[in-house]
Amino acid sequence: MTFRWFLVFSFSIAVAAIDDDLIPSTLDGPFEPVTVPYDVSLRGNAVDLPDTDPRVRRCVEGFEPEQISVSLSVNYDSVWISWITGEFQIGNNIKPLNPNTVASVVRYGRSRVPLTDEASGYSLVYNQLYPFEGLQNYTSGIIHHVRLTGLRHSGYLTLTQFMQSLISRTPIMVIEGNHEIEEQAGKQSFVAYRSRFAFPSEESKSSSPFYYSFNAGGIHFIMLGAYVDYSKSAKQYKWLERDLANVDRSMTPWLVAAWHPPWYNTYTAHYKEAECMRLEMEELLYSYGVDIVFNGHVHAYERSNRVYNYTLDPCGPVHITVGDGGNREKMAIEHADEAANCPEPSSTHDEDMGGFCATNFTSGPAAGKFCWDQQPDYSAFRESSFGHGILEVKNETWALWTWYRNQDSSGKVGDQVYIVRQPELCLGSIKLPKSSFADS
Ligand SMILES: *[C@@H]1O[C@H](CO)[C@@H](O)[C@H](O)[C@H]1NC(C)=O
Ligand SMILES: *[C@@H]1O[C@H](CO)[C@@H](O)[C@H](O)[C@H]1NC(C)=O
Ligand SMILES: *[C@@H]1O[C@H](CO)[C@@H](O)[C@H](O)[C@H]1NC(C)=O
Ligand SMILES: *[C@@H]1O[C@H](CO)[C@@H](O)[C@H](O)[C@H]1NC(C)=O
Repeated sequence: MTFRWFLVFSFSIAVAAIDDDLIPSTLDGPFEPVTVPYDVSLRGNAVDLPDTDPRVRRCVEGFEPEQISVSLSVNYDSVWISWITGEFQIGNNIKPLNPNTVASVVRYGRSRVPLTDEASGYSLVYNQLYPFEGLQNYTSGIIHHVRLTGLRHSGYLTLTQFMQSLISRTPIMVIEGNHEIEEQAGKQSFVAYRSRFAFPSEESKSSSPFYYSFNAGGIHFIMLGAYVDYSKSAKQYKWLERDLANVDRSMTPWLVAAWHPPWYNTYTAHYKEAECMRLEMEELLYSYGVDIVFNGHVHAYERSNRVYNYTLDPCGPVHITVGDGGNREKMAIEHADEAANCPEPSSTHDEDMGGFCATNFTSGPAAGKFCWDQQPDYSAFRESSFGHGILEVKNETWALWTWYRNQDSSGKVGDQVYIVRQPELCLGSIKLPKSSFADS
């Protein structure tokens, strides 16, 4: 029996090896732009689960912990554990719970060994208060955040809380998008975002939940805020300069940046919307050789060629838009390079992003125009489908990016490419933008 399984296993390895030769790498690029034709039968929207669905219904009683999640801290030996106790309330004249009534304690230890370590954190509740007619107010359950330190890499994390044992192993890291703004009474915004998640902000010296960094799997991740000030004179930019200068590429050779609205997006939806941010920050990211940029916002999939300042460049990052997790607003399907679908420049302005910077191209085939008349050279692959992706770092210079359509089985690949770093070509002489350190 065991032997049969072994055969099956080695067969699948062999298949993988053959496939491997066919997977393109960015060294083969820049690639001719590809648009996978849109499949009309998929023109569905993602449907929100009803409150009564067992997967979203509250399944604990009283003050038992729920919604347990793990976030990474800045380094491998530390994580944040978050959870909620007590019920949220929604309605008129609601009275918030007192967060001090339930302790924030995590006991932990190595697998199969008594839980000898203990860490305490802090707790809070938050409110969404709407002084508008017809909207009900909300107050959360008690949210707890606790940081565990001194973890050893190979150990499994087991945590208990209030006599209940729970295990959680997949950390999530979040960065704000436009939907997290949620303006409420007193012009307060991002309240749920700031309250619900734990961020390694202090650990990464940003002191803001809106931008921070952390290390994982040979990658230094930089999470940037597109809906807070990103200008060269702002705190975020100063922090980014310091953070990039402190990256040790011998420890984390890979540099990956993520924020919500993409800079290189050829769909009509949100086209050139983040130009002001690009103009402020692109040169700095490029000067430190950022390898990959991940974005969301556009409800579709797109992978760029290596690009910098709208020009193909072997040392520019690969920009990947995976805003296609699912959305009730349906998918983005129109491309700005289709005759009728190039937006009027002023219509691309987004209030939430501050200024307006979208201009016509000044060089290349679309010089003098706002849109290309075919898929631009900086766009390598695009497809309107809901999906998700996996990045596997193979070693210092090779990482495999695979995108899957949600409707396909996991064996079927939607897009796949080896992203290959060329440090000797690209990091030889780092040229920093003029504005650096001198004034910070
Ligand atoms: C919600 O809270 C706001 C601010 O405290 C208050 O003005 C408003 O009356 C409350 N609305 C309801 C329906 O309780
Ligand atoms: C980017 O390209 C524009 C237009 O070609 C040019 O004016 C600008 O100086 C370039 N910016 C950088 C940082 O190279
Ligand atoms: C920008 O390009 C559009 C066409 O894409 C054109 O209508 C418009 O006049 C151009 N604006 C400028 C300032 O050249
Ligand atoms: C890195 O990984 C790639 C893909 O698995 C492989 O082809 C390459 O030989 C590896 N390079 C080094 C230096 O190990």
